[in-house]
Amino acid sequence: MSEKKLQDKVAIVTGGARGLGRGYALRLAGLGADIAIIDRNLHSADVYDFERAQMAAPTVMEECRALGVRSIGIQADLADRAAAEKAVAEVVKQLGRIDIAVCNAGGGTVTFADERREEEADNGQAPAEKTGDVALTGTPADCPQHMLTRVLDINLMTCMYTCMAVAPYMKAQKAGKIVTSSSTAGISASAFYHPYGTAKAAIIHYTRSLAQELGPYNINVNSIAPGIIRTGRLGDRSRMAKRIPLRREGTIEDCARVVEFLVTDLSDYVTGKTISIDGGFCDQR
Ligand SMILES: NC(=O)c1ccc[n+]([C@@H]2O[C@H](COP(=O)([O-])OP(=O)(O)OC[C@H]3O[C@@H](n4cnc5c(N)ncnc54)[C@H](O)[C@@H]3O)[C@@H](O)[C@H]2O)c1
Repeated sequence: MSEKKLQDKVAIVTGGARGLGRGYALRLAGLGADIAIIDRNLHSADVYDFERAQMAAPTVMEECRALGVRSIGIQADLADRAAAEKAVAEVVKQLGRIDIAVCNAGGGTVTFADERREEEADNGQAPAEKTGDVALTGTPADCPQHMLTRVLDINLMTCMYTCMAVAPYMKAQKAGKIVTSSSTAGISASAFYHPYGTAKAAIIHYTRSLAQELGPYNINVNSIAPGIIRTGRLGDRSRMAKRIPLRREGTIEDCARVVEFLVTDLSDYVTGKTISIDGGFCDQR
């Protein structure tokens, strides 16, 4: 079996500048794919010690290049449909094609530390020393408008706009693999952490619908639903291990292996599905 099974393929990883997206980018680069990172902040790893400590180079693009592939970074807010289309067109211009799109950009009901710094700078305030995120929460019956808009935008709309932007290229080449990023929060219902779960549930439905439309073009569309996975943004949640059947927090590599399955020929006859990566957490009563 060839070691480099994605040689000559081009993969987009949205939100790939840190966390899970970085893990997907490095995994696919290791399999030989050229990598385009599209992120609203290509240096987003800098705001968390956990992420910064893992970086072997200043950016994920440089880390990918060190693995022997081409890699470019495009800074864009994918919640803006025109910006998403422009970013995807730029990938085709620079790397020639798009075979794989991992629509990973997203986040919970928080204001990220790097966004907060931008807002403070825009308001003429000195940037805060503290690097943490500001956690907010809504409920299904009581959710501030700005949170509704923001959480649906960064999760659902970034995903849909990326899929819509890559689809014409994949359709024209009659091949493609799309992976969307849901969450176990989109599978189990909860009366808090709203509207994140609603956005992630919508991604599961969108994935199924898109798979129906793109199947005749030989394009597979599947989703992953990570559970409790250690990234810099969410911090150490190993205390939750006792509530997880496999008795441990998930890792970025646990998720990257499933993404590998979904973007290679191992899953050629799988489409419209969502795979939970949660150590069995979600099936408990
Ligand atoms: N970590 C977990 O436990 C977990 C669990 C379930 C689902 N997820 C999902 O996995 C994905 C990655 O999670 P993570 O923990 O690595 O998050 P993260 O915050 O570490 O990384 C998200 C990246 O997306 C980028 N991004 C956010 N909004 C964007 C936008 N509008 N346009 C372009 N880029 C944008 C950020 O700049 C950041 O680099 C998210 O969709 C998240 O909801 C994570």
